[in-house]
Amino acid sequence: MKNLKSISLQVLDGELLILDQQMLPDTENWISVESPEHMIQIIKQLKVRGAPLIGVAASLSLALWSKKGETLSGFKSVAEQLRASRPTAVNLMNAIDRMVAVATESSMNPQQIADKAVEIFEEDVRLCLQMAQVGEKLIQDGDSILTHCNTGGLATVGIGTALGLITHAHRTGKKIHVYVDETRPLLQGGRLTTWELDKAGVPYTLICDNMSGSLMAEGKVDKVFLGADRIAMNGDFANKIGTYNLAVLCKHHGVPFYTVAPQTTIDPSCSDGSGIPVEMRKEDEVRGVFGDFGAIRWAPEQAPCHNPAFDVTPVALLTGMVVGDQFHSQEDLMAGKLNNHFND
Ligand code: MRU
Repeated sequence: MKNLKSISLQVLDGELLILDQQMLPDTENWISVESPEHMIQIIKQLKVRGAPLIGVAASLSLALWSKKGETLSGFKSVAEQLRASRPTAVNLMNAIDRMVAVATESSMNPQQIADKAVEIFEEDVRLCLQMAQVGEKLIQDGDSILTHCNTGGLATVGIGTALGLITHAHRTGKKIHVYVDETRPLLQGGRLTTWELDKAGVPYTLICDNMSGSLMAEGKVDKVFLGADRIAMNGDFANKIGTYNLAVLCKHHGVPFYTVAPQTTIDPSCSDGSGIPVEMRKEDEVRGVFGDFGAIRWAPEQAPCHNPAFDVTPVALLTGMVVGDQFHSQEDLMAGKLNNHFND
């Protein structure tokens, strides 16, 4: 397979390397992925995360491992386990289904399987650029933008989805300021988005998640841009827990609220948000925090906790959605325009 490189993933001389996102921002440690089973572990531990990135990483792990002469039934069985490693991000399922299809059609031809994984990688890079070019027009010089979770190069193999268009707007010379939600419980905003914005030189301010309402009341937020893990055909979408809170706040304060995603995030089998499965995670993640900085628990050891990793925002709260090279207003979404992505 040819060498590939993004800020969070590399294929180097046939070895798959993943940047351990649990060790950021202070330590940049690359994990050598030994097998798809190893990849499943890494995905579950959120060492690699973000809807598009896990799809690409899982595909590459399958492709590199299949070179060792696996049978089709062995391939399908491990692919099924990878597919189930995180239940909400549909990009993972999309990518795995494409890998299984090529393995089946080619009778396990390693070159064709490798080519498909490279195609999935390169497609994501291209889609990120398209989203940035379309979405950047929604940002005006002087805008103050709030974002949630991490949607940049650490969540994709390109420049990112929502964060991609934010950094693109900065690169084109627009003077913008970003408010970064820390994103409890796993702090993807506080640890990862800040790391990316530092690298890109974009001015930002880190806030706790419960500060967004008062910022909006003070008129300090012009727009909200964030990502999506699964989009239903009517425009309802799942994204990192806390997205729905922001959508409701935006409605109250009249702040435009946008989501940005590649078409691989649309689930044609989900007619509305009620069909989106929401991943439930361990209670320990709510009782404290852990990372390269160590582990801290502040709640009683047995404190009962509720820990959905995502929430579902209804299309009625969305101003619009950038999907690949298209922008859809709320009206477009309600008129079924997401079907455009399946008509070519
Ligand atoms: O649990 P995570 O960190 O994988 O969740 C990531 C998100 O919710 C992102 O907003 C989403 O994947 C879109 S990123 C391109």
